[in-house]
Amino acid sequence: MKIDKLLEQYVLSHIVEERPLMARLFRETQLRMVNGRMCSGHLQGSLLTLISKLIRPSLILEIGTYTGYSALCLAEGLVEGGMLHTIEINDELESLASSFFEESGLRGRIIQHIGDAESVVPTLDNDFDLVFIDADKRKYLTHYQLIFPKVAQGGIIIADNTLWAGKVVQKVAPTDEQTLEILKFNDFVRNDPRVETFIIPVRDGITIMRKVSE
Ligand SMILES: C[S@@+](CC[C@H](N)C(=O)[O-])C[C@H]1O[C@@H](n2cnc3c(N)ncnc32)[C@H](O)[C@@H]1O
Repeated sequence: MKIDKLLEQYVLSHIVEERPLMARLFRETQLRMVNGRMCSGHLQGSLLTLISKLIRPSLILEIGTYTGYSALCLAEGLVEGGMLHTIEINDELESLASSFFEESGLRGRIIQHIGDAESVVPTLDNDFDLVFIDADKRKYLTHYQLIFPKVAQGGIIIADNTLWAGKVVQKVAPTDEQTLEILKFNDFVRNDPRVETFIIPVRDGITIMRKVSE
């Protein structure tokens, strides 16, 4: 076992416990989905919950619902009456995520959109306090540009998988579109004067940006 795996286990045994519903959602995702590893899971999920609770957002936007794990983590921080919009392109995932939203008691605060983020985001005219980008890695910069005008001043944008299993510091094949786009995204936000950027090297890398200007 590598030392970082040991440390991850140590961290997991010294942070808030995963709620039984979330553990069940994670298990069902692993059993029913081919790419179960795409699910945030407890380590990242509890960090998302903490960030959301610190921000206390009124409006959250998520791109990439998948089975709903991260949506439920983020929704925990909503203020009374707050809403989370989550977008998923694959309609086969709708009912699984929806059943867990129902069970969580947060159904009334979560609006599920089925469709391509590029078609759905322009229909949303809200000022989001918190945005989580976690869909197609080849579209990260597109999604960032798309959501940016809809983020409130001082709002937080989080992007997942920005260290991309360490591929960002390895030799990249010219055909590896996902890594090339992540590299482009990381360079772009680092140099974007409209945001303050930090990368948390947890799990697959989580970039946190604070919008400081239009
Ligand atoms: C990594 S998974 C999301 C995981 C989830 N956020 C979590 O942490 O549990 C990415 C999801 O984005 C969806 N997706 C990919 N391209 C999309 C697009 N253009 N618009 C909306 N959803 C998209 C995929 O179908 C997939 O379910």
